[in-house]
Amino acid sequence: MIVGFIGAGKVGCTLGKYFSSCGIEVAGFYSRSYEHAKQASEFTQSHAFLTLAEIVAKCDCLLVTVSDSQIAEVWYDLCQLPIGNKWIGHCSGLLTSHIFSQNKVVHPFAFSLHPLYAIYDRFDCFSDMVNVSFTLEANADIIPALTEFFAKLPNPIAILPAIKKPLYHAACVMLSNQVLALVQIGVDLLNEQCGLDQEFSEQAWHPLFLGNANNACRAGIIDALTGPVERGDVETIKQHIMAMPDELKPIYQQLSTILLNISRKKHPNRDYKQLELEL
Ligand SMILES: NC(=O)c1ccc[n+]([C@@H]2O[C@H](COP(=O)([O-])OP(=O)(O)OC[C@H]3O[C@@H](n4cnc5c(N)ncnc54)[C@H](OP(=O)(O)O)[C@@H]3O)[C@@H](O)[C@H]2O)c1
Repeated sequence: MIVGFIGAGKVGCTLGKYFSSCGIEVAGFYSRSYEHAKQASEFTQSHAFLTLAEIVAKCDCLLVTVSDSQIAEVWYDLCQLPIGNKWIGHCSGLLTSHIFSQNKVVHPFAFSLHPLYAIYDRFDCFSDMVNVSFTLEANADIIPALTEFFAKLPNPIAILPAIKKPLYHAACVMLSNQVLALVQIGVDLLNEQCGLDQEFSEQAWHPLFLGNANNACRAGIIDALTGPVERGDVETIKQHIMAMPDELKPIYQQLSTILLNISRKKHPNRDYKQLELEL
């Protein structure tokens, strides 16, 4: 099975390099700009294709690693070519394999394969991939063949039903992107509201944030939990809410309510009723 990548961006370059390192034969890249396909081919010691027709002719499996909004357009172009027996996949967390449909019939060898990782660079992330999990979504008939093929990767791969993809993707966003929103709130409070020097606060929040993230991964969320909610420290929470700018009070209270639920699991015999009234 020879794989070709359509879209020489962050995911295309990263998976291209990673797949080859795992023994999957990668023919090369086709992209909107030939220059980018060329860079990707040099990075992966593969070929840069000038046309979609050429990459289709050379590959048995095409991974459409363009941005989500471009997948349907590429699919339209692919449908003009002989793709009847080709495996065609994309890497979107949200979209399903059903995007590869003609006259409401899904291509029999369509799939989506989503890496649960923030791939922020074309050439810098491939060595991180060994620890990354994937989800695979496809028609039940081809799951066994896909699973067998992707078993070349040492990564955990879970099968996900198409209907779950929107919620699944929202969960991934909460675990990744939205954490950054919370970090931004904390940093702004330290710098703008508390007047701490930017250099100082950067040094200060990195170990606070990374230590907590590491603890949660190592020990699990319940065991990693510390802080005033877990301690049932009503006075502290009252003061936080009072000091907090009005627009941030709801998010602080909602997150604290979630922490309260975790705290109850951790300390089933502790009385959190007073704290609950404050939230
Ligand atoms: N980045 C992540 O963290 C991440 C994680 C998981 C899944 N994904 C998914 O992976 C897919 C790719 O995302 P990405 O972050 O790699 O995007 P990206 O860095 O923007 O790369 C997209 C590439 O697609 C090429 N392209 C766009 N339209 C095209 C077309 N019509 N024909 C041929 N090539 C075209 C672009 O080509 P040129 O550069 O040649 O113009 C660009 O290099 C998306 O479905 C995304 O949801 C991304």
